[in-house]
Amino acid sequence: MGKRTLIAETGAGQHGVALATAAALVGLECEIHMGAVDVAKQHPNVVRMRLLGAKVVSVEAGQQTLKEAVDSAFGVYAADPERYLFAIGSVVGPAPFPDLVRDFQSVVGRETRAQFLAAHGRLPDAVIASVGGGSNAMGAFTAYLEDPGVRLIGVEPGGQGDEPGQHAATMTFGRPGMLHGMETLVLQDEAGDPGEVHSIASGLDYPGVGPQHVHLRDAGRVEYVKEGDDAVLDAFQRLSRTEGIIPALESAHALARAIRLAPTLPAETNLLVNLSGRGDKDIDYVAEKLGMSGEADEVVR
Ligand SMILES: Cc1ncc(COP(=O)(O)O)c(C=O)c1O
Repeated sequence: MGKRTLIAETGAGQHGVALATAAALVGLECEIHMGAVDVAKQHPNVVRMRLLGAKVVSVEAGQQTLKEAVDSAFGVYAADPERYLFAIGSVVGPAPFPDLVRDFQSVVGRETRAQFLAAHGRLPDAVIASVGGGSNAMGAFTAYLEDPGVRLIGVEPGGQGDEPGQHAATMTFGRPGMLHGMETLVLQDEAGDPGEVHSIASGLDYPGVGPQHVHLRDAGRVEYVKEGDDAVLDAFQRLSRTEGIIPALESAHALARAIRLAPTLPAETNLLVNLSGRGDKDIDYVAEKLGMSGEADEVVR
């Protein structure tokens, strides 16, 4: 068989960059599908992927975000599965993709568990992670599933409000349905088609969620909540200024929940927040949102 091409979809571009990096390392061709809106919003990652030698395909169908990128990459893969190796970006899609992604991603949770025990001599009281398709959360939660004392909290994008199209909070507002080859909860319009979604974070505006999360909620093991764009922007700035860490807007959803929760809990409570990615990709977009120019504060001559 000839050389195969790695193909994937990406929302924020983080796993597109990761895949392009791996492809460069092992000498495979790489093709990344990304919604046209996200290409514009996350252009630092588009530049990274292209520098790494990947072909970036901008998808202009529908809402031009993550769902359409998945549709497009799946379509190309399904038409020629001999040529392509599909690398899915979250715990979504047909079996065995959700299990594969969870198992690889769960290294993160095992590491945090070991490091937390070493640093504090006990487990965290809660682990908090953002949920789009749900891969960073599954990665963070899996190591703690058998630890009943550890609260697990998944944070969905509450966007601008609770009306359809204003958010992408699938665990809160979704109905049972089929999407991208999986049976799960789906945000649907009146006709039963995937509904419009919004989030400040490109990696979270997806109308479905990995089926493992639906199971964990039904089993009563994980709580799912939502945080809106404004709280997320505040959390983004707060971490940047207080810790010197610029978080991804996706990760800032988990932070926003931690900030909301912390004052309600005893002072000795330990919250572990999964920072799923860096915010470099988001700075232009955030600066525009905040009306912050790239000019200096003061000029001296
Ligand atoms: C930094 C970051 N965090 C979180 C996500 C959301 O994906 P998931 O819910 O699969 O972790 C993305 C998706 O692009 C991302 O880029």
